Amino acid sequence: MFTSIAPRYDLLNHVLSFNVDRLWWRRVARTFASILARPQARVLDLCCGTGDMAFSLQRLAPNLGATILGTDFSHAMLQRAYQKSSGPSPRWIEADALNLPFPDGQFDLVTAAFGFRNLADYNAGLHEILRVLRTGGECGILDFGEPHGVMGQAYRLYFRHVLPVIGTAISGVRGPYAYLPASVARFPSPGEMLERMRRAGFQQPSWTPYTFGIAGLYRGRK
Ligand SMILES: C[S@@+](CC[C@H](N)C(=O)[O-])C[C@H]1O[C@@H](n2cnc3c(N)ncnc32)[C@H](O)[C@@H]1O
Repeated sequence: MFTSIAPRYDLLNHVLSFNVDRLWWRRVARTFASILARPQARVLDLCCGTGDMAFSLQRLAPNLGATILGTDFSHAMLQRAYQKSSGPSPRWIEADALNLPFPDGQFDLVTAAFGFRNLADYNAGLHEILRVLRTGGECGILDFGEPHGVMGQAYRLYFRHVLPVIGTAISGVRGPYAYLPASVARFPSPGEMLERMRRAGFQQPSWTPYTFGIAGLYRGRK
């Protein structure tokens, strides 16, 4: 499904989010600025798609010794990330987020932007993140939420009825942009997600809403 929308993915992201997606990626990167500033920081961006989260992390990692890796299981998405790259970092690796090709305790920071929600098994995803984090390392999962109140009603109207039509028209592919609202509806609420993180073994899990809760950042420490 993701491979089928890869050619128009960036354009659609920016159009459908009114460019707010860029602000969200930057905000996540700023949240982890102190980790990114470490000389030997090791950072993994899961479900990196065409790379924008990883590029934002890279911009705040001034040290040449830092390692930033973007992984995704869609080859077509990674090819676009590679084409957008202007240097040797980030590096792109084809991998399943549920079965990562890294030893235990490798990373200071693991992020996932709008990818975690798509995993077939959220608990397995959390355990895999925890496995590759070093002790004291942090995780940041940015994903969609469902805002409440009047804002929530307007958002649901847009997200369920307008977005699928525009998404299907621009991508030329029927399916993925109808799947998007369905995937958000099945995603656990912040309370449930925090409980899952706690049960998986994350310390001090927290959720910060972005833009009225349309999106939000889950954080946790190993
Ligand atoms: C909505 S896109 C997000 C891409 C990017 N992080 C962004 O913020 O634009 C979701 C990405 O997750 C990837 N993905 C979904 N499940 C995955 C899995 N189990 N392992 C690796 N990548 C996965 C898809 O291929 C897709 O590129």
